[in-house]
Amino acid sequence: FTKGPLSSKRILVTSGPTHEPIDPVRYIANRSSGAQGTAIARALAALGAEVVFVTGPADVPPPDGVQVVRVETAQQMLQAVEAALPVDAAVFAAAVADWRVASASGSKIKKQNGALPVLEFAENPDILAQVSQMASGRPSLVVGFAAETDDVIAHATAKRQRKGCDWILANDVSPATGIMGGTENAVVLISDAGADEWPRMSKSEVATRLADRIATALTA
Ligand code: C5P
Repeated sequence: FTKGPLSSKRILVTSGPTHEPIDPVRYIANRSSGAQGTAIARALAALGAEVVFVTGPADVPPPDGVQVVRVETAQQMLQAVEAALPVDAAVFAAAVADWRVASASGSKIKKQNGALPVLEFAENPDILAQVSQMASGRPSLVVGFAAETDDVIAHATAKRQRKGCDWILANDVSPATGIMGGTENAVVLISDAGADEWPRMSKSEVATRLADRIATALTA
């Protein structure tokens, strides 16, 4: 139990990719490593928060000192998030798959003499939007991420409006930046106050700065 500015606060963090099954042995995933979400959970715990860390199958281990809830799919992540509420703040750093396979096969799909399987998709729940738009019991601070490859600030500002969250941490994930899967990040914090561009720094420095901002917002 750590003392600190967040010591009476309960904070939810989602992190990592989701895996959406095709059949029992195959899945659809994305390149999220979970590094940024893990660093944020660690930084919040270091300020004394009680952190519920809901994570998909990430490349990096979860931090110490947090309550870890492991999930695979977006639907499981939504359930875990709902079970974690109420919280004072929620940070949605997970790279949730937009779509799942509409009806995953219960047995391994076999090759069929050159006939190709056709996958039908269904849209996953938007966990950030759902929590942001809760009619009652909404966390007082909801933070989303926006991974963009162009027009970062414009797209992220529109996303903040659409989802209804308080802050968006936007970043440029174009392959040339090396951010996806890398150790550094360059983010813009979009809030009511406008767009605040942070210099390029390590993901752990981004996490520390965000945790400090969250502490200020929750204790103001
Ligand atoms: O819509 P987009 O995926 O670009 O939004 C990114 C933000 O929304 C991230 O904070 C992500 O964690 C959250 N998100 C979510 N559930 C989804 C899709 C995105 O919570 N199904």
